[in-house]
Amino acid sequence: MFDKMKLWKNNIDSSDLQERIIKLKEQQVPSHVAIIMDGNGRWAKKRSLPRVAGHHEGMKVVRKITRFANNLGVKTLTLYAFSTENWKRPKMEVDFLMKLPEEFLGTFLPELVQENVQVRMMGNKDFLPKFTLNSIEKAIEATKHNDGLVLNFAMNYGSRAEILEAVKHVLTDSRSGIIDEEQLTEEVFSSYLMTDGMSDPDLLIRTSGEIRLSNFMLWQLAYSEFWFTDVLWPDFNENHFAEAVEVFQKRQRRFGGV
Ligand code: FPP
Repeated sequence: MFDKMKLWKNNIDSSDLQERIIKLKEQQVPSHVAIIMDGNGRWAKKRSLPRVAGHHEGMKVVRKITRFANNLGVKTLTLYAFSTENWKRPKMEVDFLMKLPEEFLGTFLPELVQENVQVRMMGNKDFLPKFTLNSIEKAIEATKHNDGLVLNFAMNYGSRAEILEAVKHVLTDSRSGIIDEEQLTEEVFSSYLMTDGMSDPDLLIRTSGEIRLSNFMLWQLAYSEFWFTDVLWPDFNENHFAEAVEVFQKRQRRFGGV
């Protein structure tokens, strides 16, 4: 439900934002927003801080944006938190990133439960440390009956690997007679992906000025609107999110038609 009063009260300190909120129309709020949260390292470097300080600040922004997206009536928020390529980073940084879900959910889970947010995760669980997986699975379990915003963490996620896994699964099902070639439509193939049950993103946001997809939701983003900003993720706020939604609302989505 689009709760304009709640939005107004929560953001009373920003008149810019209030103006934006008034303009946002309930029916045009994107249902699924996906975000590539980039620029944590550069944010830290600019302040002569270690890179992990940027990730920690970025975690706080996740909290802020989750609240805002939920209040705005977004149905699904997918956040690229750790890619299959991120293992190449220094061990100390990887270890720090793996501890973030525990810290984030340790303090934020009660609010997520209360605010009717459902936590989900997509990605390869095999290589995640036990404590990382435990904290995420605990949150998934605690929020599984919630039917408000779906907060979907892409954790150890890579889109090519996801598609390849789906193809292998289809082949297995085909050999077992569960599915045949004629039945394999785009919709059915989508159900083999990790986003099964979710709509495709309407809007993709990437921060920090990089204009690429970095192996993120390659199938699901086929018809999404893209919005790129130079703002580094730790500096990203509700106002930027509202701006992205505003731009989205002005775009004409034709899905290949006229
Ligand atoms: C990319 O910035 C960011 C990441 C690899 C990590 C993103 C994670 C968070 C924002 C926190 C996640 C929070 C939870 C709760 C899981 P970068 O390090 O590549 O930045 P750079 O390009 O400036 O170096």
